[in-house]
Parts: sequence; C-alpha cells; structure tokens
Amino acid sequence: MPHQITLEPSGHVFTVEDGETILNAALREGFALPYGCRNGACGSCKGKLLKGEVDYGHYQANALKDEERAQGKALFCRAKPMTDLVLEVREIGAAKDIHIRTLPCRVQKMERRADDVMVLQIKLPANERLQFLAGQYIDFLLKDGRRRSYSIANPPHDDGLLELHIRHLPGGHFSDRVFAEMKEKDILRLEGPLGSFFIREESDKPMIFIAGGTGFAPIKAMLLHAFASGTPRPMVLYWGVRSRKDLYMGDLVATWQQEHPHFNFIPVLSEPRPEDAWLGRTGYVHEAVLADFKDLSGYQVYACGAPALVDAARQGFTGSRGLPEDEFYADSFVNAAASEEA
Ligand code: FES
Repeated sequence: MPHQITLEPSGHVFTVEDGETILNAALREGFALPYGCRNGACGSCKGKLLKGEVDYGHYQANALKDEERAQGKALFCRAKPMTDLVLEVREIGAAKDIHIRTLPCRVQKMERRADDVMVLQIKLPANERLQFLAGQYIDFLLKDGRRRSYSIANPPHDDGLLELHIRHLPGGHFSDRVFAEMKEKDILRLEGPLGSFFIREESDKPMIFIAGGTGFAPIKAMLLHAFASGTPRPMVLYWGVRSRKDLYMGDLVATWQQEHPHFNFIPVLSEPRPEDAWLGRTGYVHEAVLADFKDLSGYQVYACGAPALVDAARQGFTGSRGLPEDEFYADSFVNAAASEEA
C-alpha cells in the first residue's frame, strides 16, 4: 500500500509506492535527496525518522551504525516505509551542495542516432552512483591531461547509466576517437557533476527551453525531471538544427508533447533539405522565439548550444523583450573542451 512521506524542514510531501525505497520515490517525484552508492554501502543518504516505521532493508554495518539506528537514523536508499513517515533530511537545493567526484567509468552502449551524433551510455563501477542535478555535465579526463565536457542527458531519478550525446566534429581530438575507435567496454575517467545549468525550482514562471543541436542533451534531462516532478509550469522547447535528420530524438520529444498538455515542442530547421518536405518553422531558433513572444518579462529561459546562439538569445530576449537578466540560464559550448564538439 502506498505511503505518504513528509520531509522536514521543507514540508515537501510525496508518495512511496509498494516495494519502493524512500530515495527512489523521492527522486522519481523530483526531490533531490543526497545519495552516493544507492546500495546501502556509503551512508550518504542517511536521514532521521521523526515519525513512523520503516523496513531498513539490507545495508552494510559501517554505513549505518547500530547506535545511529537506535537514534532514529535510516538509509533512505534501502529503507521502505511501513507507515506514513515524517523524515528529517537535508535536501539538495543547489550545485554547491553536491560533492564533485572523479570516477572511472565504462562505455556500456554506443548508438549512432544521426550521421554526426553518437549517444553513449556510461556505467560507473558497482556500488557507485553520481549524484547530479538535471542539466549538469561531466568532464572526461583524458590521458594527455585534456578534458572534454558533456552534459548528462538522463534525469537524476533514472541514473543507472549516464547518457551523453557526442557530436562529431572531424578533427576533434575526442570526438574523432568516439566515432572511429571507441568500443563498448572501453574505460574512461570522469569528473563531475559540474555546472549551474539546472531548473530553478523555487519559481513558478513558465519556462522556455532552447537547444541548438546536441544542446538538447541537458534539456532532455531537465524536461524528464520536470515531468517526473509533476510541475504544473508551462514549458516549451525550441530545438534548432540544420535539417530534419539532425532532430535525432525528435520522435521522443513528440511523444512528450502528446503525454504532457503543458509541454509544447517547436522544432526549427535552419537548412531544411528538399527531401525533408518540411512544413514547420525555419530560420534561427532564437528568432523563432522572438517571433512568438513579444513580452518575456514573466518567463524563465534555459538555453544550451553554441556560443553564437546563446549570445544572440540573451541579447534578443533581455533587451526590448523584457526578460530579466537573471532569468536567462545558459550552458554555452564555450570552453576549449566543449568547443571541439560544438
Ligand atoms: S546512498 Fe550509499 S548508503 Fe544509501
């Protein structure tokens, strides 16, 4: 039978379904509780039971000492409610609350979704999970000391594997390797999570998302997180690519549009090809937003893509269209690492 959980001090409330752990239910509903291994081994998810009873599940004795359990503590990655609960827990509200880690990882799956887009699924060692906020990125640490940055495309509640969207830029040090040599089971090293590109949950403003090419990756994570959290905020995604084949997950986004009445999807092609038979929007993606919104003063905008796109969007939206500067959030492919792939 489902049980209701109340978090203190925030007062947040969510429901845990039969057989679910407290942590899984919290993440599924969009509440960022702290965790590490999600396996009863590290103690990062420890919190206090203020009211109610749990089945503590299996865990390692050093992750939750007997005296801690006697004081009412439990590991939320293992514990399942037996009654409604009131819990005291530190919720993650910002990137600064998350520990940045360096971990080895393995290429679990490679899937080419477009001529120049490879979707990598990355697996962390057993007993390791990377806590992150939807929209953040990781750096691959290469043997020669270089770094390559990629946004995490899966939401935190679905973190068994990390999904990354790699765009091939011929001559690019890392992306050439991904497209020419990389194989499943290859081992890499990553650092993360990084960045401050994530949804500001305290706001109730409608959100406009703008993605250029593989800038879709973090926005995919943010939207899936937003859907899971049940936010009623209206959301629209403008995804700008050159031609139809570059909408490498367009079908997926179209299904979201059918499932979520408060979400709208507007693909924008800059160079549609004759065989695209495209009847939709064309031109630059930020100009499509400017054409649709005369007054942006009541919105939040989240943009990810090449620097030219992000700069043009910032200037166009915050000027005469009235978007407050601090309501424009962006992840631009600016550093040397990311620019290889932009
Ligand atoms: S997340 Fe490691 S013990 Fe719960």
